Amino acid sequence: MRIGIMDSGIGGLTVLKECLTRLPEHEYLYYADSNNAPYGVKSQQEVYALTAAAVAFLVEKEVDMIVLACNTATSAAVKQLRQQYQIPIVGMEPAIKPALALSRGKRVLVTATALTLDQPKFKALIGQLDRHGQVDFLPLTELVAFAENGDFDFNTILTYLKEKLVHLDLTLYGSVVLGCTHFPLFKACFEAIFPKGTAIVDGAVGTTNRIKAFANFTSPTPKTTFFLSGEPLLEGPLFNSIQTILTKVDAWEQKEQ
Ligand code: DGL
Repeated sequence: MRIGIMDSGIGGLTVLKECLTRLPEHEYLYYADSNNAPYGVKSQQEVYALTAAAVAFLVEKEVDMIVLACNTATSAAVKQLRQQYQIPIVGMEPAIKPALALSRGKRVLVTATALTLDQPKFKALIGQLDRHGQVDFLPLTELVAFAENGDFDFNTILTYLKEKLVHLDLTLYGSVVLGCTHFPLFKACFEAIFPKGTAIVDGAVGTTNRIKAFANFTSPTPKTTFFLSGEPLLEGPLFNSIQTILTKVDAWEQKEQ
């Protein structure tokens, strides 16, 4: 299958990486809208327009399926886009359900962009799943800029997260949701801050399961190509950063710890 994956930037690589590991028999077109990132500080209408442009570009390339590997784009655009296109559109939403299951009765902290947390889609999800008032939310919008600027300095991120979390009692939480695809790039920092045993949950595995369910034929030419906001991306700092993330995120995490 020819699968188009879009994100505001490099965050969706955390999903692509899972796909390349578990579903290597497909062709992937990855659209990083880094020229327009971050999405999380824009209005719903702006994010809808950017997401619709990315999807139109990928559809033009004759993809068989679209993946919005971006919680923010999904919350702002998936409903309308599904009305416009016949092909499957897989979206993402913060992984609250698995996080509740892993919380051992303790509280759940959902982190995401400000826009995701503000959308009716998210409020409806909470209304449906948070029966015991166990879930708290925290926007961590700036993490997207750190990632897009290639700032993966462990101590810088740790200091930022500590400031953001200073008002919370971290021992209350059984699980933390990384509800933005950029955040798993900093998973090691979350693990370093929260008490041992806190589950740090993201949506990459669940999303790949959804993709697998739709991907019912293989590609004769499995490969991955990259696009930067509508232009082929074949070289340069962003291309190199993408290759590093796809091959070495785990190594980076281990080195920094
Ligand atoms: N990666 C995106 C998400 O999952 C959003 C990042 C942004 O703010 O651009 O929400």
